[in-house]
Amino acid sequence: MTPLNPTVTCEVPVFYATTEGQTRRIAERVAAVLREEGFHSRAIDVADPEVANINWTIVRGVLVGASLHRHEHQRSAAAFVKAHAAELNSRPSVFFSVSLSAASRNLAEVEAARDIARAFPAAAGWQPHDVVTIAGCLAYSHYNFLTRLLMKHIARKEGAPTDTRRDYEMTDWAAVDGLGRDMAGLIRDDEWRVPRVA
Ligand SMILES: Cc1cc2nc3c(=O)[nH]c(=O)nc-3n(C[C@H](O)[C@H](O)[C@H](O)COP(=O)(O)O)c2cc1C
Repeated sequence: MTPLNPTVTCEVPVFYATTEGQTRRIAERVAAVLREEGFHSRAIDVADPEVANINWTIVRGVLVGASLHRHEHQRSAAAFVKAHAAELNSRPSVFFSVSLSAASRNLAEVEAARDIARAFPAAAGWQPHDVVTIAGCLAYSHYNFLTRLLMKHIARKEGAPTDTRRDYEMTDWAAVDGLGRDMAGLIRDDEWRVPRVA
């Protein structure tokens, strides 16, 4: 959908939805890498009203990130990709899904997280060039009592740390940097015309 008066200009926006903040941190890092690569880029919350005023005509590439909670990505992210599938499909685009399962020692969990991630853009009619899963964070100190119990239970199942007295960062930041550089390469080389994701 093209706004009547698009005022928000960004060459490579990194849209994100987050519940505890890790996907925002990842989006900000990807945007920083893209700036180092010479693009005008920044992280934008899909729930921010400025999203309605994006000037899509100058967008050269786009990333969208969301995190998994109880096997689902945020509804705000689903609504965003559904509303903007046409804009996303017409330029290099990547979806990244942040979860605990991405770092699981249980390979079936890792694969299940990949399946959920791949299904997310497909459900909206979006065909991104790539779908990436990224390990998030176990933020025990931010959870309430019940959530802490639940997360400890899930962590045990997945071989993740269960000492709830501290938080655990599981994100591979080198891989996050690679995501930013890959997008820069896609834009420069027009490689995106050959989609990797069916
Ligand atoms: C209540 C709750 C439910 C979660 N459910 C899942 C899940 O079903 N699968 C998974 O892999 N990770 C799950 N996680 C882990 C989150 O995806 C992970 O903490 C991620 O870093 C959150 O990203 P965010 O801070 O951007 O929201 C859950 C976390 C919480 C707090």
